[in-house]
Amino acid sequence: MSIDYGQKIPNNVDLASDKVLQRALEHWQPEYLKWWQEMGPDDSQAMDVYLRTAVSVEPSGWAHFEHVKMPDYRWGIFLTPLEGERRINFGDHKGEPAWQEVPGEHRANLRRLIVTQGDTEPASVEQQRHLGLTAPSLYDLRNLFQVNVEEGRHLWAMVYLLHKYFGRDGREEAETLLERRSGDVDNPRILGAFNEKTPDWLSFFMFTYFTDRDGKYQLCALAESGFDPLARTTRFMLTEEAHHMFVGESGVGRIVQRTAEAMVKHRTESPDQLRALGVIDLPTIQRYLNFHFSVTIDLFGADESSNAATFYSTGLKGRFEEGKRSDDHQLRGQTYKVLAVSNGQLVEREVPMLNALNEVLRDDYIKDSVGGVNRWNKVIEKAGIPFRLVTPHKAFHRNIGALAGAKVSPDGRVISEAEWNANVDHWLPSGSDRAFVASLMGRVVEPGQFANWIAPPMMGINRQPVNFDYVRFN
Ligand SMILES: [Fe+2]
Ligand SMILES: [Fe+2]
Repeated sequence: MSIDYGQKIPNNVDLASDKVLQRALEHWQPEYLKWWQEMGPDDSQAMDVYLRTAVSVEPSGWAHFEHVKMPDYRWGIFLTPLEGERRINFGDHKGEPAWQEVPGEHRANLRRLIVTQGDTEPASVEQQRHLGLTAPSLYDLRNLFQVNVEEGRHLWAMVYLLHKYFGRDGREEAETLLERRSGDVDNPRILGAFNEKTPDWLSFFMFTYFTDRDGKYQLCALAESGFDPLARTTRFMLTEEAHHMFVGESGVGRIVQRTAEAMVKHRTESPDQLRALGVIDLPTIQRYLNFHFSVTIDLFGADESSNAATFYSTGLKGRFEEGKRSDDHQLRGQTYKVLAVSNGQLVEREVPMLNALNEVLRDDYIKDSVGGVNRWNKVIEKAGIPFRLVTPHKAFHRNIGALAGAKVSPDGRVISEAEWNANVDHWLPSGSDRAFVASLMGRVVEPGQFANWIAPPMMGINRQPVNFDYVRFN
């Protein structure tokens, strides 16, 4: 399953054998590049960046690294190989062969799932568009661009499915994916978190830790799909996603490390003193964490959703690690607990599990996202500092589902509007927090040099040294 780079659009799907599809995608390609020039990384056109490119879809050694001029990156279409005889492993169609074509009755729902996933990919590139101007090192600049080009490739992955399997409406959807803009009042991206700003590198690392991890969970659920081309497309996307979350986890970890070093060296916990030393105090990091965690868990959707039930029962979208679960994979008659506010208290309600599958996926996500936070805490603990970072209660700062708009503190108490207003600046980044973090941002371009507010990484990319010239500005 090696990838053919001799073609205009690199692919491992034998695109050349389907001339109509090939022509349609070659028509979309310049539109994509136009979008990249306009909305992709600011001022990056002349840079040579040490990027990895997929050369095969085999789990071992699929990546090749070299300096690439940014707009010359070879975006392509890569699916994991067909598994002979794959069967649908959940829902009403459980046990039937996986579909190689879109079943007519599920067409609209499948298209909606693919468009919603596809829309997040260019959205994050737009959100991160200006960050290159303030990268804390060449190493970080390279990681940002790696994430950006791969999100661009994820858009290609979804557009391929739309073009190949959804005819005219698929082609129209592919066009609108290049027309919506993150944060645009008139034509925003589909999901809330993808219309927020990512104005600084603390936000970027929180985004890649928390929000790219939402991507992982959505992709894992789609990788179970009865629609085999979707399952195979998302599986390969997942191999790329792992790096994005690494960038986030290690990025926040390095910021925490730098702050902890300053706290020890100067024997202070005072945010003002630490800020004067040019590092980001831990309470500010906690507030950014609260923000990104809460807007990200909204992405899983309403806690009770008949769409979620339909997507599952019809075999379109499974659960995280569906195959590893030991239940009947149909879930009829089973229940799950969701939260609501009643009489000033958070209460659990049992609802049909099929309708609660968004909540099931959200809870799986929450369990996973706590892991990295604990690793950040290890850094703080090692420095002998009593402070601990913590993910807020899942009812905190929610805007979707039964908890939307409820006033709940990070530790899970239902509170009054007045208490919320009095504390919100301790719980979520305030204007002055954001202004302070922004004041630290400035581009560092010497190989091996790092901005003062972030520690260098333990090692470089692809076994290169940390002081490697990951980006050449020309
Ligand atoms: Fe992605
Ligand atoms: Fe990602």
